[in-house]
This record gives sequence, structure tokens and C-alpha cells, in this order.
Amino acid sequence: MELFSEERSADVVAGSFAATPDPRLRDVLTALVRHLHAFVKEVELTEEEWSAAIGFLTRTGQQCDDVRQEFVLLSDVLGVSMLVETINHRTGGASTESTVLGPFHMVESPPRELGDTIALDGKGEPCLVTGRVTGPGGEPLSGAQVDVWQANADGFYDVQQPGVQPELNLRGLFTADEDGRFWFRTIVPRYYPIPDDGPVGELLAATGRHPNRPAHVHFIVTAPGHRPVTTHLFVDDSPYLDSDAVFGVKESLVRSFPVVDDARRAAEAGLPNPFRTVHFDVALLRE
Ligand code: BEZ
Ligand code: FE
Repeated sequence: MELFSEERSADVVAGSFAATPDPRLRDVLTALVRHLHAFVKEVELTEEEWSAAIGFLTRTGQQCDDVRQEFVLLSDVLGVSMLVETINHRTGGASTESTVLGPFHMVESPPRELGDTIALDGKGEPCLVTGRVTGPGGEPLSGAQVDVWQANADGFYDVQQPGVQPELNLRGLFTADEDGRFWFRTIVPRYYPIPDDGPVGELLAATGRHPNRPAHVHFIVTAPGHRPVTTHLFVDDSPYLDSDAVFGVKESLVRSFPVVDDARRAAEAGLPNPFRTVHFDVALLRE
């Protein structure tokens, strides 16, 4: 094997992987080594910086447990989660765009009937969500599953406030009707900070970045024979739409939530008057 030198470092180390039996693993490791060495050379990394980086990654690992995944959060704030998501779910404009899953889909959403409310604590601005699930040609996907979860009006998920919010607050699994339509009652979510009491929070603070995500409702929509979509519906008057801490916003996912002041419609929807509404259609690609 060629001996290590500054000039040829990437080739020497990449060469050590030449006999990797799995060709994809070999390609990925080779590219990783090339980019890593180019990075170290570009910034002329000092030993103190190298040591700080090792300490940071160590603390990131130590912050992980059954319910907290600090490495995914790191990937999120570096935009890597969104890049992987976007590369792997190119839509060609034919289906609803995807965005990050996030860490709060940690419990199964309870099956609910169309029209049910998912807001179990009665707090917040009431809202009627309607939409339709279709295939790429606009054909209705009867029986599509629409899994939704969101933060409450204070910007917390139920799992962040056990004993404060009712269990399974603001979560629901709906089955679209024969026309692909779904509708449910909820409240308008609030923007919120991602968990920032660990190393990722340190990184954000050290770089003058805020930890907030704009208000959104999460969706996972599935239908047999079609590619599932993991996405968000963003509230168009929310702060932070142009500076999401995890880069999750796509313009095609932002909707207005107009106020409806109509006692008859409110009674029909089972909501107090006035209330907010939003319509969000979801198109899936065929498998
Ligand atoms: C979320 O939207 O739930 C989320 C996404 C990425 C990081 C933290 C939270
Ligand atoms: Fe979220």
C-alpha cells in the first residue's frame, strides 16, 4: 500500500477500501473519504478543532436514548435529512412533495371517524381540515389512510407534556371516503422550537440560529399500490416560514387558513363560530 502523505491522503485512504465486496459500500466510503479529506484541507483543521468536534459528536451520542435521537436532529439542522428526503422522493411535479418525518410520530395515531375532532383538550382556535387523496392522474383513492399529528396551541406535542395534555391529543388516523375525501376537526397549531437543550441547541446558539419551526400539521398518506407521502401542511401566516430550523418548508405545502364566520356552517362542522378552515389535497404516485 502507498504510504500516507498530505498530498495523496484521500487516494491512499480510499484505496484501502478497494477490496470492499459490496460495491455500493465501497463507493459511499470512497466518496466520504474524498469529501472529508477535502474539507479538512480546505479549513486546515486544528488539533483543538478536531478535539472539539470529537467531543461534540460524543455528547450528541450520549444525548440519544429511546425517545431522543440527537443525531437525527443534527442531520435535520444541517439540512441533510431534507436533502435525503428530497432526493429519495422526487415527484416530478406529479405528486405532493414530501418533507421531514420529525421525532414526534412516536406513538401510533388512534383510528378516528371522518369529521371527528383530534383536539382533545379543547384549547386553541378551532379549525376544519378538508382534503382529497388522489393518484397522479387525479383519480380518487378511496380508502387511503391519512395519519395526522400536530403540536397544540402552545407549540407542544402530547408526548412532550404527559399529564398536561390528554394522551393522543392532536393525533388521528382517518380513512378517506369512496371519493378520496377526508375531513376532521382540530385547532390551528403554533410554531415551536425543536429540542434545543442538547448539543444541537449549542450548535444553533453558537451560530446565532433560532430553533423554531413554523406551524404545521404532519401527514403520512398511504394507499395500496401507491408510494406513501410523509409531509406537512404549513400555516401561511406562521412566523419562521422563511427560516425553519430544519429546512422543511416547501412552497407547495403552505396553505392559508381563512376564518369562516357563518353560524350555519359552524353548526354543520360541529365547531364554534367563527372557525378557521384549510383545504389540503394530496396526490400519490403509483408504486
Ligand atoms: C417536527 O416537525 O416534529 C420536527 C422535525 C424535525 C426536528 C424536530 C421536530
Ligand atoms: Fe412537527
